Amino acid sequence: MVGGRKRRPTSYVLRPASCEVRILPSAPDVAAEGAGVFVAAAKEAIAARGVFHVALSGGSTPRALHELLSREPLSRKVDWKRVRFFWGDERCVPPDSDRSNYRMALETLLEPLRIPAEHVFRMRGEDQPRAAAASYEEVLGREIGARGPRLDLIFLGLGPDGHTLSLFPGTRALRERSRTVVANYVPKFREWRLTVTYPVVNAARRVVFLAEGAAKRDPAAKILRKKPGFRQLPASGVRPRGGQLLWLLDQEAGRDL
Ligand code: 6PG
Repeated sequence: MVGGRKRRPTSYVLRPASCEVRILPSAPDVAAEGAGVFVAAAKEAIAARGVFHVALSGGSTPRALHELLSREPLSRKVDWKRVRFFWGDERCVPPDSDRSNYRMALETLLEPLRIPAEHVFRMRGEDQPRAAAASYEEVLGREIGARGPRLDLIFLGLGPDGHTLSLFPGTRALRERSRTVVANYVPKFREWRLTVTYPVVNAARRVVFLAEGAAKRDPAAKILRKKPGFRQLPASGVRPRGGQLLWLLDQEAGRDL
């Protein structure tokens, strides 16, 4: 019993086959669960199509997951030469900036695993935003498929304001239904971002949210419990059509579920 209330089981299916929610005891458990999903998704994709197309998330939450994948035992469970790395979003900063999502992945995953540069497709945050978005759209089309790229797995974070990727409340990118990648101006940060759009996320075979800590408690509950106004939160727009949606939360973020 927690606080007198019977706690829900740590894992329950919200809507069969379309959305699953797993509440894990701690942040390290979320990282371990997410790393396990990566390994399983990679095995499945490589067995079916000979290649695994994965888009990494930005922010700080994925660090621990990356670090688990980069060392044994998990590092031995993936055929890394058949993995192609993409990003869901990027800040408009140079790749060596400490705010770069690419740099975080380089340090925690790509360099430790010695992933060859030709298997890594980063968003060019250093370029003019609209040009960078257009060229990444071409990269996705060339590497995954021009008729609407279908990623095998995309990791997503959740912001306290309910944003995900660089799809922030009230920003233009939320309305994009044909472009796969756009430059999105974020007034609250007074900065440009690059982000894939809902058409890409909702075409993915597997979408996994990683949410940890008390700051994610309200947006997670609002979205997953469909509380009044939940559609104002950008993460609520992630509803993969023919794919699986999995939320991985620690106890703090999942407290109201
Ligand atoms: C980014 C992200 C963003 C992030 C969330 C959660 O570029 O910052 O892609 O959507 O995933 O803001 O960030 P944390 O993991 O740091 O809480």
